[in-house]
Amino acid sequence: MKALILAGGSGTRLRPITYTGAKQLVPVANKPILFYVLDNIVAAGIKDIGIIISPETGQEIRRAVDQAGLWSARINYIIQEKPLGLAQAVATARSFLADSPFVMYLGDNLIGKNISDFVDAFHRNAPDAQILLKEVPNPSSFGIATVDPGGRVIKLVEKPPQPESNLALVGIYIFSPKIFEAIEAISPSARGELEITDAIQRLIDWNLQVNSDIIHEWWLDTGKKDDLLNANRIVLDELIQADIKVIPGPDSKITGRVVVPADVTIRNSTIRGPAIIGSGVRIVDSFIGPFSSIGNNSSILNSSIEHVVLLEHCEINGIDRLEDSILGRNAVVRKNHSKRGTISLIISDDSVIEL
Ligand code: TTP
Repeated sequence: MKALILAGGSGTRLRPITYTGAKQLVPVANKPILFYVLDNIVAAGIKDIGIIISPETGQEIRRAVDQAGLWSARINYIIQEKPLGLAQAVATARSFLADSPFVMYLGDNLIGKNISDFVDAFHRNAPDAQILLKEVPNPSSFGIATVDPGGRVIKLVEKPPQPESNLALVGIYIFSPKIFEAIEAISPSARGELEITDAIQRLIDWNLQVNSDIIHEWWLDTGKKDDLLNANRIVLDELIQADIKVIPGPDSKITGRVVVPADVTIRNSTIRGPAIIGSGVRIVDSFIGPFSSIGNNSSILNSSIEHVVLLEHCEINGIDRLEDSILGRNAVVRKNHSKRGTISLIISDDSVIEL
């Protein structure tokens, strides 16, 4: 069994963060999303991994994965010149995948479960394809599967106005090499992409066996701001164990599950977990509330923040309450006392400021 991680794409829904970096490297609880994906694949015993990258962000992904060097697996990088769809990405990786079955895993998807059972079920039943499904409250917003009582997939429909089921396709699949024939048989969709759902539907039309498995744990597609904040909240809530390497002074307090490295400065402040503080962070005269992930070398001064994702080298200074926010690298939010009543901004394209 091999694995193919899709980490190309354009990331338009996560702009402006994705203007300067790959969306798969955006951190959740201070760890890039892609690293959770790699952890899950390697934990299932898969040692041959291909990563689809784009010409724009591929180098950054390659550097981050190679520098981390955390996985005992062979990792190949495969460039997809243009984001022409998930099925086109699979076709691009054909020579890497050869005649092996493979897990296809979207590089911006997180699940609260190990994929080992899913992989074992494929080995046991040897279907032509196997998809992972999750019950959702709003099926009209997803690719939806109709399955028979034995779990065999009968039909897939993209964003159905009148859904036949509430089982959404999670971004994790296992394919036999039959998928390549199906991809050759499909045409681009209305949005100009080769859709993986169309290719799977082809397998169903050819009467081949497409099985399904249902995940009851959480599934998060981190492609948009609120989804990313939600992912950060759930991962901090479920995975963070207290690891406090500094002794806060008598004027400061740390409560709940909080990760604080030894080189963090905390003065006259309170941190309430679950939260994770990066290396070299300065927290002075501030309150850090639950569900906050603070990137390395950021400064929180005379401010109160909660439910935020800050990337590296951010500065928050003199802000009464900052919540539900994502700040890219080197972002600064500060009060300017000489400009009372006015605000002064330098913000990039597609930034959103809610006052
Ligand atoms: P999507 O989130 O569906 O697409 P996108 O990354 O282009 O984002 P947006 O819609 O905001 O512009 O992609 C899911 C995953 O698959 C993501 O990790 C990117 C990757 N991908 C590819 O590798 N190649 C592709 O052609 C596409 C469409 C996506």
